[in-house]
Amino acid sequence: MCSRTESGSLRLPTYPWDTLTEYRARAQAHPDGLVDLSIGTPVDPVPAVIQAALAAASDSPGYPLTHGSPELRAAVVGWLARRHGVTGLAPDAVLPTIGSKEFIGGLPRLLGLGAGELVVYPELAYPTYDVGVRLAGAEGWAADSLTAIGPRRVGLVWINSPANPTGRVLPSEHLRKIVAWARERDVVVASDECYLELGWEGTPVSVLHESVSGGRHDNVLAVHSLSKRSNMAGYRAGFVAGDPALIARLLEVRRHAGMIVPAPVQAAMAAALADDTHADLQRDRYAARRAALRAAVTAAGFRVEHSEAGLYLWMTRDEDCWASVAALADLGILVAPGSFYGPRGARHVRIALTATDERVAAAVARLIEQTGDLVPHGEQREAAVEKHRPPDHDQPAASEADLAR
Ligand SMILES: Cc1ncc(COP(=O)(O)O)c(C=O)c1O
Repeated sequence: MCSRTESGSLRLPTYPWDTLTEYRARAQAHPDGLVDLSIGTPVDPVPAVIQAALAAASDSPGYPLTHGSPELRAAVVGWLARRHGVTGLAPDAVLPTIGSKEFIGGLPRLLGLGAGELVVYPELAYPTYDVGVRLAGAEGWAADSLTAIGPRRVGLVWINSPANPTGRVLPSEHLRKIVAWARERDVVVASDECYLELGWEGTPVSVLHESVSGGRHDNVLAVHSLSKRSNMAGYRAGFVAGDPALIARLLEVRRHAGMIVPAPVQAAMAAALADDTHADLQRDRYAARRAALRAAVTAAGFRVEHSEAGLYLWMTRDEDCWASVAALADLGILVAPGSFYGPRGARHVRIALTATDERVAAAVARLIEQTGDLVPHGEQREAAVEKHRPPDHDQPAASEADLAR
C-alpha cells in the first residue's frame, strides 16, 4: 500500500484498488460467485428519460459550450431550488464538469494554488482531494478541526457531507462556522455534495443553502455529481455551482484548457436534473439494499457507525481492516478496507450499496448463514493483516488511498 511511484516529478500513491486484486480473486472463487461491494459503481440501468435525451442530442457536430448550455444551467438552478432549497443562484454561477472526480483532482491547480499553500480535507476522506494537492504541488492537511491549523495560510478547504466513507452528515450550524471562518480569511470552501440526495437518518444540507451561506455565495463552491443520483457514472457528468467570481475564474481556465462536457451528455444531464421520478426510485432501491445489508452485517458481528446518509455502510469488528476484508472475501464478498481513506480507518471497512438486488440477497444469505465462519483468528486473516501493515512512520493512509472513488 505504501509504496510510491514516480510519474515525472509527481509523487502519486499506489493505485489502491490494485491492492485488492488478491481478495477479488478469492471472492470470485466462491461457488455462488462474487458480490462486489467495493468500489461502489452503479449497476442499475440508466433511466430511459436520460438515455432518450442523450440519443436525441447525438447529432452534435459543433463544439459545446464549456460553460454548459443555458438549458443545463437552468436545470441545475431548478434542481438545487426544488430539491435542496437553494435560492439566489444565478445560472451563470454554474459550470459543468467531466464527472466530479476530474474537478476535485484539478481544483487546487485551477485555483492557482502551489508550493507552500495548504489545502485542508477531512481526516477520513475520498482520496482524490489529496491527489489534487499533489498535482498542484501544494501541501495537504487532513484535519476535521480548523483550529488545529493555527495561523498558516490556507488556500482551500474541502468538506464532504454526506461523507465518503463514513456516511456522516454535518449539521448546517457546523457548515456555517466553516464558511464564516473561510470568509474571514478569504479562503475557498469547496463542498463535495455528491451524496446530497441520499440522506437516510440525517438530512444533508447544501453549502449553498441560506442556513449555511447566509444567502450569499462568496467563497463557496458546491461540487455535484450525477453518477449516483441518476446512474450516470458512465456518462461522466458533474457540475460545480456557487461564488460567481470563482466560477468565472474556473470557466476561463477550463475554456483555455478544453475541459468541456460533451453536448449529448449536457443534454442528458439537463433531462436527469429535471426529473425526480427516477431519482426517487433509485433512492428506494438503495434504501432497501441498505436495510438488508445493515441487518446482515450486524448479525455477522459488525458494528455500523455513522452511515446516516450516502451510499455506504462504514463498519467495524474492532479488528484490523484487512482481517475483515479477508474474512468477507472468503464469503465471496469484496469490500474496501478503511485504511484507503486515512489512518483512522484502519479498523473499519466500507461496503457499498451498489450491487443488484440479487447480489445483495446473496451477500445477506451468506452473512447470515455463515456467521460462525467469521471468527477473526484464521491464519489467512493474520497473514492479510501482516501483509498490509504500513511501515512505521509512513505517510498517512489518506494520501495512499482510493483514487478511483
Ligand atoms: C466523495 C466523492 N466525491 C466525488 C466522487 C466522484 O464521483 P464522479 O467522478 O463519478 O462524479 C465520488 C465517487 O465515488 C465520491 O465518493
